[in-house]
Amino acid sequence: MHDDATRWDARYDGHRLASPSRPDALTDELESVVPTSGRALDVAAGAGAQSLWLERRGLSVVALDVSPVAVGLVRDAADAAGLAAGIEVRVADLDDGLDPDLTRFDVIVCQRFRAPHLYAAFVERLVPGGIAVVTVLSQVGADQPGPFHAPAGELLQAFERDDVELLRHVEADGQASIVVRRR
Ligand SMILES: C[S@@+](CC[C@H](N)C(=O)[O-])C[C@H]1O[C@@H](n2cnc3c(N)ncnc32)[C@H](O)[C@@H]1O
Repeated sequence: MHDDATRWDARYDGHRLASPSRPDALTDELESVVPTSGRALDVAAGAGAQSLWLERRGLSVVALDVSPVAVGLVRDAADAAGLAAGIEVRVADLDDGLDPDLTRFDVIVCQRFRAPHLYAAFVERLVPGGIAVVTVLSQVGADQPGPFHAPAGELLQAFERDDVELLRHVEADGQASIVVRRR
């Protein structure tokens, strides 16, 4: 099994079921940019808190994670909340990129999983008008920056593109977030 899967399986063992939680990058003002229908992709979904939130909002969700234990937690939480019909779960190693069938999303969320090799795909796998919501650990304001912390400006540089409208960017206290809309 992939090292990441083994490591994260151990961390999720015995984890409680998630409750719906809005992605960190969204504010009360920005929440309205997230559509209330269509398709959402939750990248490195973990226990599925953001997947549940997206489903509750009205989107049909594909939740990806390398950890089979995490994916099981998403499935169980969706079952428990009566949301299972709207959340497809998949075990996927994102080091290999996104499967080609994962395209034409209205929303893509990637929270606390730093994957610079996927930033371009996050834009290209959106429909025009679709929203990408990304949060990563950041060296900016971090007490002890490590290999998973993005250098200053990483998200801005990656998403500064002619086909992208910037809606929000913050970088502070060891975390960076960006919200963009595909033109
Ligand atoms: C810090 S957790 C974030 C989970 C969730 N997005 C959240 O914000 O609560 C990072 C997630 O990335 C997943 N992950 C780590 N390496 C991965 C890989 N190579 N492919 C897919 N998922 C991976 C882990 O299993 C874990 O669920």
